[in-house]
Amino acid sequence: MGAVDDTSDSIARNRQAWNNTAADWVGPGQRSWSTDDITWGEYANPEEEVGALTGIRLDGADVVELGCGTGYISAWLARRGARPVGIDPTEGQLASARRFQAEYGPRFPIVQAAGEAVPLRGGSFDLAISEYGAAIWADPYQWLPEAARLLRPGGELVFLCNSVLFTLCAPDAEEPAGAALVRPQRGLHRVEYTDDEGVEFHLPHGEMLRVLRSSGFEVLELIELHAPPDAEDQQYITAAWAQQWPHEEIWRARKVA
Ligand SMILES: C[S@@+](CC[C@H](N)C(=O)[O-])C[C@H]1O[C@@H](n2cnc3c(N)ncnc32)[C@H](O)[C@@H]1O
Repeated sequence: MGAVDDTSDSIARNRQAWNNTAADWVGPGQRSWSTDDITWGEYANPEEEVGALTGIRLDGADVVELGCGTGYISAWLARRGARPVGIDPTEGQLASARRFQAEYGPRFPIVQAAGEAVPLRGGSFDLAISEYGAAIWADPYQWLPEAARLLRPGGELVFLCNSVLFTLCAPDAEEPAGAALVRPQRGLHRVEYTDDEGVEFHLPHGEMLRVLRSSGFEVLELIELHAPPDAEDQQYITAAWAQQWPHEEIWRARKVA
């Protein structure tokens, strides 16, 4: 098991890093808030194709978004009848979320907290969700048990993160992932890129399965995402790479009753 005290500095560092870059996420946040379509990840893969939420009742569902950032995922779910609460440790991101709530609606509660320790009553939610929030910026040895605590028995967890393969191929520089492995999978947990002041967390699949199960989840699905045919290169990923290999993955798990 990885070092569970890894958050001794990562929570503060990630909050600082996200406060420093919050302004860069206003534009993307605005684009997402101004549409109703649920999409996933860098290439906005449509939910109708991805199916990460298939069969989950959203109308009337209590939802907690762990690392909500500008809050568009919660907004999309609220527009489908869900009652979301957005959790994020970064003031700058939450300020954008509040601004978009006022601009586009709807409003929903927002709580400033890290995914590792959420100041909300356990057993209160039907769905815990994270798209690049706690899913990569919080320590999985802490946020996954915390997500399980927050859920009602039978509640579901859905989260999107970089794929393990992407993380293994992502160079430690401002370059896109190449076709070579540049870091070991063994012991993969805390990942720090020199061009980013934040700290990311990624686990190999076997360890992720183990942590999910030991946190009280049964694993339902692992959905691997690829870039669509008309995709364009992004800062850290080329379309060609993501058309051949999964650049992102979505885990779906259910809290055991
Ligand atoms: C790329 S955003 C993802 C949120 C949303 N999907 C978006 O794109 O606006 C990453 C978010 O993770 C948040 N974050 C950083 N550290 C975190 C932690 N320990 N727990 C939960 N979220 C964290 C950041 O503040 C940031 O808002």
